[in-house]
Amino acid sequence: MVKIAPSILSADFNRLGDEIRDVLRGGADWIHFDVMDGAFVPNISFGVPVLKSVRKGTDAFLDVHLMIEKPVRYVAPFCEAGADLVNFHVEADTEEQLLAAIRAARALGKKTGVTLKPHTPAEAALPYLELVDLVLVMTVEPGFGGQRFMADMMPKLRTLRGWIDERGLAAELEVDGGVDAGTAPVCIENGATVLVAGSAVFKAADRAAAIAALRGENL
Ligand code: DX5
Ligand code: ZN
Repeated sequence: MVKIAPSILSADFNRLGDEIRDVLRGGADWIHFDVMDGAFVPNISFGVPVLKSVRKGTDAFLDVHLMIEKPVRYVAPFCEAGADLVNFHVEADTEEQLLAAIRAARALGKKTGVTLKPHTPAEAALPYLELVDLVLVMTVEPGFGGQRFMADMMPKLRTLRGWIDERGLAAELEVDGGVDAGTAPVCIENGATVLVAGSAVFKAADRAAAIAALRGENL
């Protein structure tokens, strides 16, 4: 079954611990943690101290999406703060430095992912495909929650699904941006195994119903 990873970017930060417990009780599989540095993307969110605090309050799988320049600099702090999986944007540094970042996270016992912005072709994931546990296809320009889903990313998703399957890899295929009950089915049809959803989960009054709806179920 598809995994649902609510993005806490859309949570009420004043009561973040309760918000996380609420979506986990509602059936969330992972928690998605969006880190933005105001340079790689035009917005600043939160970083290592917040991750440490979140980790203290939950055993849930923490999927950390680093929207930061030269992420190799921050692998150890995020891993030590409690990330379970660290996602690196392929646009954020050279291939050599990204491979170093992936190796460093793995050496610390963590899972890794590579992330593609909308204008980045599927081919950009190839150098990393056999090394990572996940490929993340952005379905909005990274930087903000609540944007409109880009359906034209579906061919890229399908291409990556094909490459993962052909090679017999177990990598998850994740989508992030504008995913809701209306756009989830086409993501699943094109091979996504993890759906990130910010507004669709946290802005819903009934989080369990919102999560079920993303899976295509009715509560
Ligand atoms: C965007 C972030 C997303 C965002 C998704 O840069 O990576 O994780 O929170 O939010 P929604 O689901 O509202 O598009
Ligand atoms: Zn994200």
